[in-house]
Amino acid sequence: MDASLQILTLISLAAQNVAWPQDPIPRLHIKHREVMGQRFLGNESHVEHFKLLDRAATSILIGARNAIYNVSLHDLTEIVDQRLQWSSTDAHQQLCNLKGRDPDECQNYVRVFGRQGPDHFLVCGTNAYKPLCRQFTIKDGAYVKKSEIDGLGLCPYDPRHNSTAVFAEGQLYAATVADFTGGEPLIHREKIRTERSDLNQLNGPNFVSSFAYQDYVFFFYRETAVEYMNCGKAVYSRVGRVCQHDKGGPHAFSDRWTSFLKARLNCSVPGEYPFYFNEIQSTSDVTEGRYAGKSARLVYAVFTTPVNSIGGSAVCAFSMDNILEVFQSAFKEQETINSNWLRVLPEKVPEPRPGACVNDSRTLPDITVNFVKAHPLMDDAVQSYFSLPVITKTSFNYRFTKVVVDSQVKALDGKAYDVLYIGTDDGRVLKALNTRAPETRVNVSQVIVSDVQVLKFGQAVKDLLVVHLAGEASKLMVFADSEIRAVPLHHCDSPAAATCKTCVALQDPHCAWDAIANLCVAVPTKLHDSDNSKTLFQDIPTGRHRNCGYEQEINKYDGTRPWSLA
Ligand SMILES: *[C@@H]1O[C@H](CO)[C@@H](O)[C@H](O)[C@H]1NC(C)=O
Ligand SMILES: *[C@@H]1O[C@H](CO)[C@@H](O)[C@H](O)[C@H]1NC(C)=O
Ligand SMILES: *[C@@H]1O[C@H](CO)[C@@H](O)[C@H](O)[C@H]1NC(C)=O
Ligand SMILES: *[C@@H]1O[C@H](CO)[C@@H](O)[C@H](O)[C@H]1NC(C)=O
Ligand SMILES: *[C@@H]1O[C@H](CO)[C@@H](O)[C@H](O)[C@H]1NC(C)=O
Repeated sequence: MDASLQILTLISLAAQNVAWPQDPIPRLHIKHREVMGQRFLGNESHVEHFKLLDRAATSILIGARNAIYNVSLHDLTEIVDQRLQWSSTDAHQQLCNLKGRDPDECQNYVRVFGRQGPDHFLVCGTNAYKPLCRQFTIKDGAYVKKSEIDGLGLCPYDPRHNSTAVFAEGQLYAATVADFTGGEPLIHREKIRTERSDLNQLNGPNFVSSFAYQDYVFFFYRETAVEYMNCGKAVYSRVGRVCQHDKGGPHAFSDRWTSFLKARLNCSVPGEYPFYFNEIQSTSDVTEGRYAGKSARLVYAVFTTPVNSIGGSAVCAFSMDNILEVFQSAFKEQETINSNWLRVLPEKVPEPRPGACVNDSRTLPDITVNFVKAHPLMDDAVQSYFSLPVITKTSFNYRFTKVVVDSQVKALDGKAYDVLYIGTDDGRVLKALNTRAPETRVNVSQVIVSDVQVLKFGQAVKDLLVVHLAGEASKLMVFADSEIRAVPLHHCDSPAAATCKTCVALQDPHCAWDAIANLCVAVPTKLHDSDNSKTLFQDIPTGRHRNCGYEQEINKYDGTRPWSLA
């Protein structure tokens, strides 16, 4: 859909009066110069292309240019003598120059890290456009190089490539490219991979994330949709999965997955013509909570409209149970090149079921393996868990890039809310929640608590991490290419929340009005369910509290406060 058509669609959706959610207005705006907090910059003489590799209790490992930094979560300083330096050899750099790459590209950007044992690591870097992995052990506090293996198909050539990798049971699963030009995408584990140039399996994918869950490894990505039959092309978002114990197929299939399946992810605003956010950008980790009285494991994901169209962004939630169900349902197929894509009838599906996890996939009959190779796509899309996106935003200025969850934050009323932190491509972090989530799945109420310009304007947020450390204030780590910043999880003490009404109007489970101190305070967890809550005012669903009284009315307010909009 081109930009003008999309604008028309948006306008007509609004005119049809469908449940198009109004862009929520942030309760608080915080400018870049007002942002306090620690920073880590690494080596400031170059772009570092930071990548969060691993989180330990009080430290994180950051992949960077020719180095891995071990950074303390207490104060964001580098831990002394814990840096792993790893540069490409002169020979590799010269080869890289010969390939026509510039000096910044001909460096080693560390992208992949996995623990293979207590003191045993596998680390991969772009190595001057010749991906390379090294095994290390730690001996007397120092890294000792054990061996080197080719990084082809494990690590991208370019630090900016949209690749993902995850370790599960000591094995590395990677979704990346296996050639210099980026034309040969693959999902790969030692000896086993997706088909070469089979557009049914992967069609120009941009991988965004991966994780192990139960017997599976899941991959999230967007790709050109083979099943899109109208003119032009469309990009759809996918969740793909393989079995961890896939041993490859029989005979000629020995180096191919027998369990690779994929499904479309549907993040859309319902209506006569649903409005789709088709391009997935990132996912959160799996988070567990109670929603509408039921427990569920959810993944939140950021979706956007295409780059050349009006800037629309959304966050949708998907339940892991729904995802698993879709992979048990009907397959999709196109019988001939010109026919429509249709659901495969159950009687046409061979036994054992194609794509299922089995003890020894090498003993599977050819008919099952051939079927799954030809039918990787499921007929049903995975529908979002709530009937609407949790947050939507139309903006000409920015798009969402990344979401993390402070899971199930308990409010004073005893209900728990998933608090979302959403990064944007212009350096903001939005704090948002669906205030209806504890009650219902059929509707959402979008609230944006704050909009904080954490990074310098124009720098994209690449990653986010919520950090809770015992005895310290919790914080949000914000990752850019060459900067890591720690900021508070809440801004209860902001001057804009300095009255009872403005404080309660934040609808922030982290903040409450303290009627004794006459301050907007961070809600300490230990106060929950105690008598103190009689003097602490908060109301997440409405953002109003009758005890806020009238004395604040005489305080001037500028009319942009949320209660005046309700
Ligand atoms: C930063 O990188 C440059 C070039 O790689 C190097 O010469 C310099 O020593 C590095 N500085 C620090 C503080 O590591
Ligand atoms: C990072 O530093 C911490 C604190 O010194 C240490 O416990 C941890 O093992 C280091 N991590 C790695 C992977 O070296
Ligand atoms: C990777 O993803 C980003 C963010 O969506 C996008 O801007 C960029 O073009 C993608 N890179 C490639 C090589 O497609
Ligand atoms: C996606 O969800 C919308 C509701 O938002 C629904 O109307 C539509 O049929 C779904 N599309 C697919 C392909 O499942
Ligand atoms: C698969 O392996 C498990 C444990 O090794 C065993 O208990 C089970 O019976 C096997 N299943 C089949 C179908 O062979």
